[in-house]
Amino acid sequence: MDDKTFFIETLGCQMNIYDSAFVAEVLTGAGYKQAADAAGADIILINTCSVRERAERKALTRAYELASRRSGDPDTVIGIIGCMAQRLGKSLLDHGGRIDLVAGPDTYPRLPALLETLRAGRDPVIDIARDPGGMYGLRPGGHDRVTAFVTIMRGCNNFCSYCVVPYVRGPERSKPHREVLDEVGHLVDLGVKEVTLIGQNVNSYDDGELDFGDLLESVNEVPGLRRIRFTTSHPKDLTHTVIEKIGSLPKVCEHIHLPLQSGSDRMLDLMNRGYTSGAYRDLAAFARTAIPGVALSTDILVGFPSEEARDHKNTLEVMEEVGFESAFMFCYSARSGTAAADLPDDVPEEEKVRRLKQVIALQNSLIDRKKRCMPGTTVEILVERESQKEPGFLIGRTRKNWLAKLPQKGVRRGEVVTARITGVSRWMITCETVENQIGA
Ligand code: 5AD
Ligand code: SF4
Repeated sequence: MDDKTFFIETLGCQMNIYDSAFVAEVLTGAGYKQAADAAGADIILINTCSVRERAERKALTRAYELASRRSGDPDTVIGIIGCMAQRLGKSLLDHGGRIDLVAGPDTYPRLPALLETLRAGRDPVIDIARDPGGMYGLRPGGHDRVTAFVTIMRGCNNFCSYCVVPYVRGPERSKPHREVLDEVGHLVDLGVKEVTLIGQNVNSYDDGELDFGDLLESVNEVPGLRRIRFTTSHPKDLTHTVIEKIGSLPKVCEHIHLPLQSGSDRMLDLMNRGYTSGAYRDLAAFARTAIPGVALSTDILVGFPSEEARDHKNTLEVMEEVGFESAFMFCYSARSGTAAADLPDDVPEEEKVRRLKQVIALQNSLIDRKKRCMPGTTVEILVERESQKEPGFLIGRTRKNWLAKLPQKGVRRGEVVTARITGVSRWMITCETVENQIGA
């Protein structure tokens, strides 16, 4: 491979972060070397997201910017991989800048072969073949992280009417639990203390032997692992049994990411979400009772076609009632090919932005309210890294996923400590260590 180097720029969700690590592993296995940054790399891959138009525009701008900078070395390969590659395929070549490679998420195991084809010929290489059963696992080597993602399923069968994911990522398939357990065990051997099990809809995990609750139980048994997180849950598939397991399994963190999208039954129906606002509120209330102190986070989508002021008000009401610990909030963005793209995108852009600002303001006030009573209480923190902004401080997360900082004195990365909260800001809690639980 004459020491060709590659660099992967990752946009989008956790699935892409995992996939990029997989691509890096595949390319390294084929003799390529990973470069620390894009400048000077022989192959630059952009792993892209298609969920919103803005994400796509950002990726395209970046790809063409890199393509135009290539003049220094015309042999540099620029590739677009991921969901946008799958969605737009060959048309990505029509925008002016020279793109050499377009490869969808199901093609990653054969990327070295695609790069060889590219080297041998003159034309761009496009591969967006689907592999509906395709599932791949990571054998990450030599990294020194404390936390890691483990993909347990790929694809999605839900076809929420606004969402492009089922089209670009294909149908749901679950990674066999033995492979999941192997992967987690391997990560623990490398020093990982916390895994996040990821998939578009983890609650529908089913490998033919275990369901999601069973899988949580099995992962909970992995020696040396301290914490388990998982995302994303779907309100229509999250069962009381699983909620009870989250409450009772010691390694599973008290945090559920449970996208609400809207508090209006009419919107939820048009979105094809498969639950009502009442069912969501009941589920959230059950979780709050069954898992003492659970943190609930969510996704909110404003400005869906035909959303009226009263639908929006319903969303604000449910947010207030559930009292989310955090939220990702978005304006609706029509995606061609989805069912909602056939509905008139009739909420004016300024109105979407106004509603978005309202949900953000409400969410911020919910966080501020929660945090006000935190000083003086104790939390468990897994220490993830040194603070770049404040030398002498370490950064970690509480079990409920709050970002926390604490003085470095006597504490190291990878340790789990009990700490007392001394101060709070919206995005960070400040703590002092009470007890180091190493070996606990
Ligand atoms: N427009 C805006 N937001 C979207 N999401 C998914 N599709 C769209 C879209 N077309 C949001 C949803 C989902 C999150 C991952 O992205 O809130 O839960
Ligand atoms: Fe998209 Fe709905 Fe599947 Fe989530 S559950 S990936 S929003 S279709």
